[in-house]
Amino acid sequence: MNSKITVCLGKGGQRDMAESFARRTGAEIVENPGEYLTVMFDSKGVSLAGFGLTYQGDFENMLHRVTNGRLQHEMLVRAAKSEKPGRRAIDATAGMGEDAFLLAAQGYEVTLYEQNPVIAALLKDALRRARKNMILKEIAERMKLVEGNSVECMEKQLDPVDVIYLDPMFPARQKSGLINKKLQLIQKLEPPCSAETDLFDAAIKANPSKIIVKRPLKSEFLAERKPSYTLNGKAIRYDCYT
Ligand SMILES: C[S@@+](CC[C@H](N)C(=O)[O-])C[C@H]1O[C@@H](n2cnc3c(N)ncnc32)[C@H](O)[C@@H]1O
Repeated sequence: MNSKITVCLGKGGQRDMAESFARRTGAEIVENPGEYLTVMFDSKGVSLAGFGLTYQGDFENMLHRVTNGRLQHEMLVRAAKSEKPGRRAIDATAGMGEDAFLLAAQGYEVTLYEQNPVIAALLKDALRRARKNMILKEIAERMKLVEGNSVECMEKQLDPVDVIYLDPMFPARQKSGLINKKLQLIQKLEPPCSAETDLFDAAIKANPSKIIVKRPLKSEFLAERKPSYTLNGKAIRYDCYT
């Protein structure tokens, strides 16, 4: 992990979690936030601080997208439409789990893979808080996070899976004033992504009924593979392989 990232244990923070994170990542535990990015463990949970910004994952922000009939208008939900009981999905590039949350709200049991330890720690904490929230609980309980490289995990995947979802790249860097806090801080962390071909090949090997790939509207097909069909939005599209 980037050696400039530090860990800070604030009031009410979970010492064992902070220490285990620091051990695994080789980050130093410091008294006060460092000059670069700091992973904060305090009474509010886990957050990422730096450059005058603080970011914490929060699935409450997603509620307006899944209530009052709005879920069915989500393009990803339309791409993954299924009534099959016990439907299962893999989100091989979990990030902060927002897309996986939409799939779980649609009824999928979702396994989320995230390889970046900082993003995985933020997501794990957001899921922990969501499971304590009366309204979010039912959806969050269908989301299981695995910290690790999905290419390796999908190659070992034996259980049948209906959908594999791939969203490997955060949008291209823009001027910081134009993007939200989450992206400003998380883009600083973004690790080298697995080769797109490896991700796609591992997804095919896992033999799902459908692979869904999120792409910027005008970009090339992932790993240059032509999809069976595409759902187009204003800025992004979903390429579906059946
Ligand atoms: C664009 S973000 C995904 C955003 C996500 N769809 C959401 O709704 O928040 C891509 C994420 O995939 C992760 N990633 C990329 N390749 C991966 C791999 N092979 N295994 C696990 N995670 C991976 C990156 O660390 C990054 O957090």
